[in-house]
Formats: sequence, structure tokens, C-alpha cells
Amino acid sequence: MKHYAVFGHPVAHSLSPRIHAAFGREAGIAIDYQAIDADVGSFRARLSEFAVRGGAGANVTLPLKQEALALCADVTERARRAGAVNTLVRNGDDWHGDNTDGEGLVRDLTGRHGLDLRARRTLLIGAGGAARGVAPSLLDAGIGDLYIVNRTSSRADALADLLGQPGRVHPRHLADIGTLGEFELVVNATSAARGGAMPVLPRSLVGRRMAAVDLNYGEAATPFLAWGRASGAYAVVDGLGMLVEQAALSFARWHGARPETDEIYGELRAEHA
Ligand code: ATR
Repeated sequence: MKHYAVFGHPVAHSLSPRIHAAFGREAGIAIDYQAIDADVGSFRARLSEFAVRGGAGANVTLPLKQEALALCADVTERARRAGAVNTLVRNGDDWHGDNTDGEGLVRDLTGRHGLDLRARRTLLIGAGGAARGVAPSLLDAGIGDLYIVNRTSSRADALADLLGQPGRVHPRHLADIGTLGEFELVVNATSAARGGAMPVLPRSLVGRRMAAVDLNYGEAATPFLAWGRASGAYAVVDGLGMLVEQAALSFARWHGARPETDEIYGELRAEHA
């Protein structure tokens, strides 16, 4: 049996082992998929041990996605553009890196939630790993102008530079959020609700048929989704569907079969209302 795992810190509550077990059952593939706790300092050593034990593929979550990019012998174009890797594929003695987060988000929004992203004036709040993972795919999905706001404006500038579309991507300081006009898609990619309080978001952001999307799920998504509902957003979406879709894309990379995602999504949704 080939071995798979998710690496992160903390990782004990990750839903990925459960999602991949469900995919494996559905595809009739026996899968060993574990959660392995590793921080930035111990990640390379843990991954090497995993490879020695027969590790064939891995997911990488917080705070290791940039470190994962650095250790790969080669990466996909979308991982390079995101500056982050969430999926590792063993290739001989090396690791090949991919990033399925952005496509997972776009599939959830357009497929499951039926949103047409094309030409939507978009605000991305945050410029850390989560924001970097999804920004290239949002651009590829045909959104309109992309404004990136961040508390530390140099990180918004760096992400905009990496995306390389200066006519379309506009970095701004979070403090200027009230001057940016209305949006049709607002994506919360901050970890603010995990560590402190969400920044105050003005009503002036709310455009007609605005979708409010949080990349987090559970308690970490509650304040932003509450803002979306109170602001009259047309659609309010948390990160649970993205989690399931990025897992399905990773599964396809490893096993060559695209799993059906609705059943496990429904099961998890019932637990994370
Ligand atoms: P992740 O991988 O979850 O994106 P990260 O790379 O540490 O984690 O990035 C966290 C993001 O949330 C950053 O954009 C961070 O802003 P800074 O770059 O200024 O640190 C943002 N963030 C975290 N706490 C925040 C808060 N209380 N208010 C506003 N932004 C916050």
C-alpha cells in the first residue's frame, strides 16, 4: 500500500485524512493517509522519514506551504505563480510540487455555488499564504480588476508583483479599504479571526450581487460571514467546499481518478453548519 499524509502545525484536527479515506472508499483504492505534525524547523526531516517509509504523496498546510515550494525539485506553473505548494508527488528521490487550492476554490464557487466569476470586481483581503494560493486561479477564472488589501502593505505589493499583471492587480493598504468603491466578490484570506479580531469592513464595499467568500471554515469564518449576511451579500460561502475540492484535485494527481465530492461535502457540511 502506498502512503499519503498531510503535514502541518497544528494538524491534529485536519479533515484531510477523513476526506481522502472517503475518496479512497468511493474509488475502491486502499489508502493510508495520516496527519503528521511538523513545524517549519522539522518539516524536511519529517518528510524525509515519510519518504523512507514509502510516502508517495502529501498535502501541506499551514505554516509549511512556502517551505514545501522551496524543497521541491520542480513545481507546476500554478504553484510557482502562487509561491506556495499544497500537494507533493514523489518522483524518484525528489518531490514534485503542485498547488490545488486556487482551482479548488474556483471549482467550489462556480460548480457547487453556481457563481459566474467573470468580470467581477474583486477584493482580496490578506496577502499571506492563503491569499497567494488562490489569487492566480481567480485571475485565470476571468475576474475583473483585483484589489489586494493587507495590514502590512509591503506584502500586498509583493503579491501583486508576483502576479505580474499591473494593469489589473492593485495592491492597497488595509487602512484605505473605505476608498476602494464597491465589489462583486470579496474574499477573506486573512487569519485574523484565528488569532485576534477581523478588521472592520465598511458597507461601502458591498456591490450588487456581491459574493462574500471566506477561505476559512468553522469558527474562524464566523465574523466575516456574519458581516456578509448583515451587508446583504447575494452569496455567502465558507472554505469547506474549497477544502474538499482541493483534496479531490490532489487525489486525482496521486491516483489518476477524480473522486465525486458531493457526498463527503454533505457529510462535513452537516457538522459545520
Ligand atoms: P495564511 O497562510 O493563513 O495566509 P499568513 O501567511 O500568516 O497565514 O497570513 C495571514 C494573513 O492574515 C496576512 O495577510 C495577515 O496580515 P499581515 O501580512 O499584515 O500580517 C493577515 N492578518 C492576520 N491577522 C490579522 C488582523 N488581526 N487584521 C488584519 N489582517 C490580519
